[in-house]
Amino acid sequence: MTLPPPADLGAPLPAPSLSPELLHRLATRRSAPAQALTAPGPDANQITDLLTLAARTPDHGKLFPWRFVVLGPVTRADLAERLAALAVQKSLPAKATAVLAKLTAAPVTVLVISTASPGSKPVWEQELSAGAVCMNLEHAANAMGFSSSWITDWYSYDPDALALFGVRETEKVAGFIHIGTATEPALERVRPDLSALTTTLP
Ligand SMILES: Cc1cc2nc3c(=O)[nH]c(=O)nc-3n(C[C@H](O)[C@H](O)[C@H](O)COP(=O)(O)O)c2cc1C
Repeated sequence: MTLPPPADLGAPLPAPSLSPELLHRLATRRSAPAQALTAPGPDANQITDLLTLAARTPDHGKLFPWRFVVLGPVTRADLAERLAALAVQKSLPAKATAVLAKLTAAPVTVLVISTASPGSKPVWEQELSAGAVCMNLEHAANAMGFSSSWITDWYSYDPDALALFGVRETEKVAGFIHIGTATEPALERVRPDLSALTTTLP
């Protein structure tokens, strides 16, 4: 499955059309437990396509206030060893160590970094765009037949851990998007009562 070629700048794009398959996917989508993701995962060409689709995300001002780090299993295993040394200094060291299993299981992990900075557009809007990138990346991975999991965990907020991942002091982790094949079917989880969350005005 190849993506359509990139359109020329300013070229008309196809209008949205009815897609029962996409609606069904959206109605039944679920994350997989990160530690249960296994091979096969996306190959190099598929990863390029995934990032292309993830980057096709709204952002106010065409700032593209995010960047990607593709983390293969070798790098993650190495980082997990270094993180384990930091985990023992945490208030709940056993838990901080245990969650590292989520970091190393999947065949491929994409670290989505928010590069938002004060300027012409509100930082909040730039950060929202990074979150939208994460969600688009998950949808794209699901459309390729992979399962995915959006994880942050303590190492997304620990300055020493962030340095290990190459996240700069001005940046934030939007998410680690783990991608692979689920070993067991996802089970439905509780969903919100929409009537409690929705106001409809005439
Ligand atoms: C920003 C963000 C960070 C998250 N971090 C974690 C995490 O660190 N650990 C975890 O178990 N789930 C985390 N989750 C939740 C899962 O990614 C997932 O959304 C949830 O388990 C199930 O939701 P779903 O099946 O509708 O996708 C996070 C979700 C978001 C949006």
